[in-house]
Amino acid sequence: MGQVIEKTFNGLKVPQGEKITFKDGKPVVPAHPIIPFIEGDGIGRDIWRASQRVFDAAVKKAYGDTRSIAWYEVFAGEKAKNNHGEWLPEGTIEALKEFPVSIKGPLTTPVGGGIRSLNVALRQIFDLYCCVRPVRYYQGVPSPVVSPEKMNVVIYRENTEDVYAGVEFVSGSKEAKQLIDLIASFGKTVRPDSGIGIKPISKFGSQRLVRRAIEYAIAHNLPSVTLVHKGNIQKFTEGAFRDWGYELAAEEFAAKAISEDKVWADFEGKTPAGKVLVNDRIADSMFQQILTRPSEYSVLATTNLNGDYLSDACAAQVGGLGIAPGANIGDSCAIFEATHGTAPKYADKDVINPGSVILSGVMMFEFMGWTEVRDLINNAFAKTIQQKLVTYDLERLMPGAKKLKTSEFADAIISNF
Ligand SMILES: NC(=O)c1ccc[n+]([C@@H]2O[C@H](COP(=O)([O-])OP(=O)(O)OC[C@H]3O[C@@H](n4cnc5c(N)ncnc54)[C@H](O)[C@@H]3O)[C@@H](O)[C@H]2O)c1
Repeated sequence: MGQVIEKTFNGLKVPQGEKITFKDGKPVVPAHPIIPFIEGDGIGRDIWRASQRVFDAAVKKAYGDTRSIAWYEVFAGEKAKNNHGEWLPEGTIEALKEFPVSIKGPLTTPVGGGIRSLNVALRQIFDLYCCVRPVRYYQGVPSPVVSPEKMNVVIYRENTEDVYAGVEFVSGSKEAKQLIDLIASFGKTVRPDSGIGIKPISKFGSQRLVRRAIEYAIAHNLPSVTLVHKGNIQKFTEGAFRDWGYELAAEEFAAKAISEDKVWADFEGKTPAGKVLVNDRIADSMFQQILTRPSEYSVLATTNLNGDYLSDACAAQVGGLGIAPGANIGDSCAIFEATHGTAPKYADKDVINPGSVILSGVMMFEFMGWTEVRDLINNAFAKTIQQKLVTYDLERLMPGAKKLKTSEFADAIISNF
């Protein structure tokens, strides 16, 4: 069952198991990988307990004793602050570096000073440049739209640039004034009492994100990758994102992908078989399209802020954030995570929906290449919802549904393997 690792992180012994490594941006996964988990604050405790049981039962069902996960707890958020005096201890960062595929529950964002957001900090420390959010419908989940099943998209959102880069200066500050003066020297006027935020979007950052999106579409035989941007207004940032995306598709994927322009110019608007269509949509129009023609889209590649809005809008259409999974992926590290917060008022009541972490685990198993586990959990999750066995958040909107506790929902999934 793998080597004994003597090192400790945050004073905790590492369980017996093997390290996952990365080669060319892809994980190399042994049979008994050590996977760190951050349980999360608030509802995280209930959710993690339930999710871990589902994961272990699925691995056992799929592989017997030939594979297993060596779970290793690392600390962040309130638990870390209480036990180690820090929101994000160095030991946690070191452990996530050493064991580079991990999963986390929601974390409280400390209010007032210190780290701005632990989630943003983790993304920056590990250069997790892709935020991946699959959005699909599970039959029976209450939805605000008429045909939620038509939505089945994977959103690849750039995770390191744009207005999230944190280059902002408060109105009246020396920096804001200097920048306003500099801008005036370029012949542009900005009101003197403005706060200034900078929106950097680079070719490097855009292309590595679009590359991942196109690779995903090819690997999963998906029909299209749509570059979502606001390039009609922000030409040199959002518009450049689109241009660099097309450029990358032409340079690196000429044999497997084709742009919408070329499809019209050479193929009368019909994408040739076996090729991924690369098209683009302006962000505001995209918000209409996901409501009016969701089935026409499969992979969406977006800049950071547009992707933030779009991910939640898409998730709402298929039943909300309680079951929306997410991943933050870089070239040498990946952290899978719930997309909702810590919902403190439901903490430790064993009532909350663990779907978001469970489905984030499904993404993790897919990333690891453990597709049997992915399918077991995915199918059992769908079946449990079809049986109308759900937690309170869905039960109150589903006529005839039975309300289960968090732990009972996990039991129901396991019994549906
Ligand atoms: N990824 C993260 O770690 C993350 C994301 C968002 C917010 N947060 C943090 O969480 C804390 C609370 O934030 P918030 O109240 O804005 O958002 P929240 O997502 O914690 O909760 C908002 C509401 O959504 C519902 N909800 C959330 N998750 C649910 C689930 N799994 N099942 C059923 N219902 C669910 C609950 O009704 C809850 O009251 C803050 O400290 C915030 O910074 C963390």
